[in-house]
Amino acid sequence: MAHRWTNDMTRADVTPKELWLNRRQIMAGTAGIGAAALAGRAAAQDALEPNPIEDITSYNNFYEFGTGKEDPSRNADEMVISPWSITVDGLCDNPGEYMLDDLLSGLTTEERIYRFRCVEAWSMVVPWNGVELADLLAKLGPKPEAKYVAFETAVQEENMPGVRRGVIPFPYVEGLRMDEAMHPLTLLATGIYGEPMPKQNGAPIRLVVPWKYGFKSIKSIVRISFVENEPPATWNIINPREYGFYSNVNPTHDHPRWSQATERRIGGGLFASRQDTLMWNGYDEVAPLYEGMDLDVNF
Ligand code: MTE
Repeated sequence: MAHRWTNDMTRADVTPKELWLNRRQIMAGTAGIGAAALAGRAAAQDALEPNPIEDITSYNNFYEFGTGKEDPSRNADEMVISPWSITVDGLCDNPGEYMLDDLLSGLTTEERIYRFRCVEAWSMVVPWNGVELADLLAKLGPKPEAKYVAFETAVQEENMPGVRRGVIPFPYVEGLRMDEAMHPLTLLATGIYGEPMPKQNGAPIRLVVPWKYGFKSIKSIVRISFVENEPPATWNIINPREYGFYSNVNPTHDHPRWSQATERRIGGGLFASRQDTLMWNGYDEVAPLYEGMDLDVNF
């Protein structure tokens, strides 16, 4: 399958796996990492500089497992991810309930190294493995009336303490406009560093939309629906004033309670600089999708 987008980042830009997967083990061996960082790009230097505040670098957001940043890594192990089926419904030619492997068979898996920017003003660089969402959607045959794609996360009450406590409404839901969903940057990620997706990151399959704030990147997907109208999105339901449907990374449009102009690159350690946040998180090629839209209204 032809892919229309290529990486502009290399493995050197990646937040080190050991920082990223287990922040508690990062204190040893920092000299070598520091030397490597000097050879890297500015982003890489920040990413590779060990962070003495390892708790900060263990951030995950996966409220099904609790609201604390370390709750997902502590609790997600209970989630059952095999077998995994996904329901496809709505305005498409091939609705049904599919086993994950069947859904993905024939699609090209590749590595995409993306900046990942959370709405909470921190960021990482992550090497995802996955398929282009566009490739899967094409296989499912969207009808012309399908203007949006909606996604839903698994609810396993017995395995998800955040669900039992009802910390936010579940299932977690999200959506994209069809042209956003079809953009070659948009991934369905099934792994990181060439290994299966860690549970706290949304195993076995999650969305990654690199020009949008992280909450659009819904984890552990069990339903994909082709719909005519803008679908509900969890944070937009909870607080529409603070979280818009589009949620494109935009340094000029602040969150009502904090600035979006800068971000803290996870793993920066002592030299953790706040970096300027880039419009579209640096993925300028998506700008044409929003031509003519007022980005302060459609935030
Ligand atoms: N998906 C589900 N189902 N539940 C969540 O709480 N959190 C979102 C997003 N996807 C979330 C989710 C938010 S706020 C962010 S920033 C990213 O996941 C975090 O992804 P990461 O933990 O892999 O960095």
